[in-house]
Amino acid sequence: IPYNEPYRPQAHFSPKEKWMNDPNGMVYYKGTYHLFFQHYPAATVWGPMHWGHAVSKDLVHWKQLPIALYPDKLGYIFSGSVVVDERNTSGFGTKDKPAMIAIFTHHDPKGEKAGSAKFQNQSIAYSLDEGLTWTKYKGNPVLKNPGIKDFRDPKVFWYSPGSKWIMSLATKDRITFYSSPDLKTWKKESEFGQVLGAHGGVWECPDLFPLKINGKEYWVLLVSINPGGPNKGSATQYFVGHFDGGKFTPIGSQTKWIDFGPDNYAGVTFGNTGNRKVFMGWMSNWLYANQVPTLKWRNAMTIPRELSLKLTAGDIWLTSYPVEELEKIVAKTIKVDAGLLAKDNNVFSVIKQTPAQYLLKFNTLAIKDYAVILSNTAGERLIVGFDAKNSRYYIDRTKAGLSTFSKQFAGKSYAPRLSLSPTSNFELLVDASSVELFADGGLSSMTGVYFPKKPYTRLSIVNNGMEIEKLQIQPLKSIW
Ligand code: FRU
Repeated sequence: IPYNEPYRPQAHFSPKEKWMNDPNGMVYYKGTYHLFFQHYPAATVWGPMHWGHAVSKDLVHWKQLPIALYPDKLGYIFSGSVVVDERNTSGFGTKDKPAMIAIFTHHDPKGEKAGSAKFQNQSIAYSLDEGLTWTKYKGNPVLKNPGIKDFRDPKVFWYSPGSKWIMSLATKDRITFYSSPDLKTWKKESEFGQVLGAHGGVWECPDLFPLKINGKEYWVLLVSINPGGPNKGSATQYFVGHFDGGKFTPIGSQTKWIDFGPDNYAGVTFGNTGNRKVFMGWMSNWLYANQVPTLKWRNAMTIPRELSLKLTAGDIWLTSYPVEELEKIVAKTIKVDAGLLAKDNNVFSVIKQTPAQYLLKFNTLAIKDYAVILSNTAGERLIVGFDAKNSRYYIDRTKAGLSTFSKQFAGKSYAPRLSLSPTSNFELLVDASSVELFADGGLSSMTGVYFPKKPYTRLSIVNNGMEIEKLQIQPLKSIW
């Protein structure tokens, strides 16, 4: 059976084999979700980038297809997006049979080596067969580098009030917005961010999209940053504000993170999903992505997450929560007797079962420490919990398994608790080598990978005598 190697995620997308980083070109078209991804098909380390391709009907079960884009004389194929050109603004398709158009960065390694500052340029390719085969545009690149070393990761959408395409582009320490009538000619509109947000590293992989809260529309701008994340290395920050078709204006000046864990990077949302916004990130960190101890493939994506805005403490925050489609693979729901959990003992073991991927959900008061511990017979353990004194959640993988492959790996990472509710809602999605915490409905999220010598077969909860309400364990079926 394929997809059953040690550490192979069973509920998450990972490439059949070899290297993967950023999700690219995520778009929904004719009943199919497309996921392209940064891929090097010749090794399990980063190399000349291609766009791998996978499709899904439900965001949960994926099928990997042949490589969509290969490097060429203009360079490697770096991150970017895909749009469906329904109005045929590009002329590549027809209105009846619109083209899918990929907008990506051509990264020229020779130019980089030669010391040029102009080695990253934006190019396009189109597909007339629903994403199976792609033709690169003869006039590439369509947006030339003005002399900025980091000039990449175009994310494009149709801005209907202005009848034009908008591109968000990562330009070193800021995001630059461009507009176009036809995806072939681009005009600079504005820049954002050189004095706002986190700046511990270069800005990458932006995404700009609207979301409503209480009927009022706001615009969210995602910006990945590497290094400079809240728990070292790579992470994704976001801004909430307004967009007028040319300029993004944020409200507030606080730096916000979509996920505080170490392993959620370069995530963006699917295009063409209407009012719904579904996000997926790369479940790794550039600090050690090339070293993690998997043999056949390297790295997976996070679970697809639905994004929403939430008003808390007078500010607007982005929540992320597994898409409801995940319910399709819930094998059963085990409800644990709440009476048992109210006992004032400290630790007790709720399940002992064969290695499995599952969701764990409960509510408890946010007044004392509590933790969920996954452990194995090799004495390894992963702890995900709440530190009441500092009102923060954490993932502790200090002793979770293999870690000598990188000095940056072992350790504890934290997420502030943002909710003001007296009870906290704690949900974990556990897979063969990853855990995703969605606390308080996804207001505080954390993602971390781990590599135990033996699979974890024991799940314990330390409740410090606090009553735990509504404990549910939902084993998940493999998606493969
Ligand atoms: C982010 C990133 C992008 C770039 C790609 C290269 O992880 O560095 O900025 O396009 O990876 O693989």
